[in-house]
Amino acid sequence: MTEKGFILTTYNSNIDRGSVKWSSPSNIALVKYWGKKEHQIPENPSLSFTLSDCKTITEVTYTKKSGNDFSFDVFFEGEKNEAFKPKIQTFFERIELYMPFLRDYHFKIETSNTFPHSSGIASSASGMSAIALCLMSIEQELTSDVISTERSMSDEKSQMYFNQKASFLARLGSGSACRSIEGELVVWGKNESTESSDLFGVRFDGEVHPNFKNYQDAILLVDKGEKQVSSTVGHKLMYGHPFAKERFAQAHQNLAELTKVLASGNMKGFIEIVESEALTLHAMMMTSMPYFILMKPNTLEIINKIWAYRAKNDSNICFTLDAGANVHVLFPKAEEIKVYEFIKRELVAYCQNGHYICDSVGKGATPL
Ligand code: PMV
Repeated sequence: MTEKGFILTTYNSNIDRGSVKWSSPSNIALVKYWGKKEHQIPENPSLSFTLSDCKTITEVTYTKKSGNDFSFDVFFEGEKNEAFKPKIQTFFERIELYMPFLRDYHFKIETSNTFPHSSGIASSASGMSAIALCLMSIEQELTSDVISTERSMSDEKSQMYFNQKASFLARLGSGSACRSIEGELVVWGKNESTESSDLFGVRFDGEVHPNFKNYQDAILLVDKGEKQVSSTVGHKLMYGHPFAKERFAQAHQNLAELTKVLASGNMKGFIEIVESEALTLHAMMMTSMPYFILMKPNTLEIINKIWAYRAKNDSNICFTLDAGANVHVLFPKAEEIKVYEFIKRELVAYCQNGHYICDSVGKGATPL
């Protein structure tokens, strides 16, 4: 599918109002996306686990209006929110070509997260994917009686089109959001190891060994503050970065390796790639100009404790990081009881106010 294939040309403009609602999860990258070209095209492929419980729930009510401006209000956890508006305005501008009805309606966007807003967890992936899905549902309602080639597609094909376009739109809101539509593993960015696209995320089509089913993710909240570096600024740091070329090539190699590891069930191989990817992401930030250290002392304490626990208990626990100080602790379901004992005994002390979130791999967004 090309960008052109996502342009909506015919829709029913007689529908006056309606309402749609979606729940969409966050995701955690195993191979990281860091660096982008124009129009949110990634410099390298990434692969993520879709999460299950860290979600955004968004309801969009649309009402026919006159005038030619974008018109919308945003309510976050029941309260009118002005702070989110510029990001949504930019999002509307970017996707308008693909959704010409955006100027015909006033949109009331009501959104909330299942995780605390001040947790330092990126809500852009779940938030942007939830809005994109709502807009796709509106597109579906506005085209339900339009006879077009799309309508004559089989159910399976139109479901695929829906998911691909939702992911395509979400990507234009926030790159990593395109990996939140489906589960359990999603690839984004062209590469030679898997079926994929630069335009949207697709479900990982490789074999997945039972060892990697039902993986758990305990998110340890080390620093709940505002991000020191926004991802927009972070991606830009990869322009002219001295190690950019090597890093982008390495992501391709790591994805190829991970594809084999996921098929064979090689847990040690998984740990090596996932932890190396997390540290490389941070190494890129430490070696950019300007440079940043986004880990905190407690991030390092936790990593060292995880390594010591793994060595002592022959465990398959490992960690990954986002562009911040919080630690995602990944482990197989079979180790759940022991790992949570370890977290409570040794890691909670390094979490801000002792807070952590228990999540696991999920299957993607759901309409409500
Ligand atoms: O989606 P963005 O632009 O916020 O970028 C997110 C990048 C990382 O979370 C650091 C890595 C990733 O692949 O999710």
